[in-house]
Amino acid sequence: MDDFNACVLPMRFVLFAALGLTCALPALAADPLPKPLRLGLCAACHGETGMAQMPGAPNLAGQRLDYLRQALKEYRDGTRNVPLMRAAIGPLSDAELDQLARWYSAQVPQSQAAAHP
Ligand code: HEC
Repeated sequence: MDDFNACVLPMRFVLFAALGLTCALPALAADPLPKPLRLGLCAACHGETGMAQMPGAPNLAGQRLDYLRQALKEYRDGTRNVPLMRAAIGPLSDAELDQLARWYSAQVPQSQAAAHP
């Protein structure tokens, strides 16, 4: 058992260190996209990274910015009359919708990226 632990624990440490690095590096990139303040309103259904968390919610990751921005405005003004999304968006400002659209548009769909733990 001692042999086992001696081997596994350092391995874990190395793994965590590596994970920490890969997570930290994008944050140091030249043009970091700040997490939108309102992201929490959307994450329950669309996930923070735009991968749907519930049946019926579309994936938003990597969707075109124009399309997302337009869709959000249509939900807000009722052109797209989906009560669920209208309630989620509520009275968000253009700036807030823009931030959210940019965020989701910039996400990489997870099937093409490393899976998050
Ligand atoms: C309660 C779950 C829920 C929440 C919370 C929610 N959504 Fe949605 N969202 C949905 C569903 C369901 C749809 C599909 C609606 C439809 O059929 O048009 C959708 C559709 C969308 C679409 C259109 C996607 C497309 O391909 O046309 C966008 C963009 C979107 N949501 C963004 C957001 C943003 C941004 C937030 C946070 C402000 C948010 N959603 C919060 C459930 C949710």
